[in-house]
Amino acid sequence: MTDVLTVHGGHPLKGDISVRGAKNLVSKAMVATLLGESPSTLRAIPQIADVRIVSGLLELHGVHVTGGDALGELHFDPTNVETAHVADIDAHAGSSRIPILFCGPLLHRLGEAFIPDLGGCRIGERPIDYHLEVLRQFGALVEKRPEGLRLAAPQRLQGTKLTLPYPSVGSTEQVLLTAVRAAGLTELSNAAIEPEILDLIAVLQKMGAIISVDTDRVIRIEGVDSLQGFTHTAMPDRIEAASWACAALATHGEIYVEGARQPDMMTFLNVFRKIGGAFEVDDAGIRFWRGGDAQRSVVLETDVHPGFMTDWQQPLVVALTQTRGLSIVHETVYENRLGFTQALVDMGATIQLYRECLGGLPCRFGQRNFKHSAVVSGPTPLRGADIEVPDLRGGFSYLIAALAAEGTSTVRGIDLIYRGYEQFLDKLDAVGARYERG
Ligand code: EPZ
Repeated sequence: MTDVLTVHGGHPLKGDISVRGAKNLVSKAMVATLLGESPSTLRAIPQIADVRIVSGLLELHGVHVTGGDALGELHFDPTNVETAHVADIDAHAGSSRIPILFCGPLLHRLGEAFIPDLGGCRIGERPIDYHLEVLRQFGALVEKRPEGLRLAAPQRLQGTKLTLPYPSVGSTEQVLLTAVRAAGLTELSNAAIEPEILDLIAVLQKMGAIISVDTDRVIRIEGVDSLQGFTHTAMPDRIEAASWACAALATHGEIYVEGARQPDMMTFLNVFRKIGGAFEVDDAGIRFWRGGDAQRSVVLETDVHPGFMTDWQQPLVVALTQTRGLSIVHETVYENRLGFTQALVDMGATIQLYRECLGGLPCRFGQRNFKHSAVVSGPTPLRGADIEVPDLRGGFSYLIAALAAEGTSTVRGIDLIYRGYEQFLDKLDAVGARYERG
């Protein structure tokens, strides 16, 4: 199979698709299975590459993974957790950022952990300094070696009082996955409180953890001596749902996304409506289409929850090129997540990038030479082009652009999209997209 899609754009996407469990919860809940003393079952698991990567890593550590991901249900038996061989783990280096979250559970189970160099999307520097500082504060010894990180817990990790410099999703998960079995109380301030994190907390509570979330971004965890397995149905993927919503808007189509849940998407839905999108919520999902064509502009800034997710930004920018008005998008989570817009400009979009913090409050990236604000003027007709997928969300956004464009596009590197969009070619078929492989 080739990694290239030839897309014939300019046709509205119309039809029904469904979304299953959120990539950014499922992968973390899979790591949590390591903490249990009995097997766990996770449901609504999507068939995406990240699930296969985490399954592989769990198996390397002695977790017995069974069940078909086509059925969306996997079972994890962690009874024989063991130290994996460095070379085997290293073979997974570069494929994902999830290995860093194995640290706490492995330190509890085995007293040691080896973490290879991390992969993940190239959307900024993406350091792991918060993670390492958190682990050190719990009492872990962290040693950087050329092949990766070697961690050790000479004694039981100790609960601690921590404040994150920024409400990082991964670092909050690091604290949760470590604190639940550490001795005593952990208090985390400036925590991320994304719905995926609250769902992970629900998983951990099912396992026997004691965790409270206060209104002021403070999470308190009372460590316990042991945890059991869990049975859980993952929350739906709100990033995938929003991506299809943007595809409906950009192509003048109409897409029903079964599984999309309004409470997780409130912030997106407000913006979607402001820029001319329409939607209807029912008990099973949300229908998205393009509403009236009045002048609509937004001033938008990406932010941690409950703000507008950075992962919604890329598909939304494509939709903005096809709606009427002049909009400002200020990316405040990643310093380099607007680079994908150059290809859109080459296709005919009018997008200008700025180093300044436009439209809102100054962010961490102001005065630091990062082009992290965009002014998007629409609608501009897009022309088919030859484009290379830059990262997961940018890749799906390029597909939307190619489907909205007049003429034929060649989209290269589509395998990357499988990391987070389940069976996206089948779903493209379901909404009538015209394309062929190769
Ligand atoms: C998670 O990444 C998601 N990934 C990302 O989704 C998502 O964009 C991001 O959270 C924000 O919502 C997964 O869940 C697997 P962060 P994560 O720690 O946890 C800085 C997608 O497309 N930072 O919240 O890695 C960091 O550089 C992916 O599905 C440090 O400086 O993100 C960034 O600027 C892409 N030091 C900010 O914090 C650290 O040690 C937020 O990152 C950690 C983070």
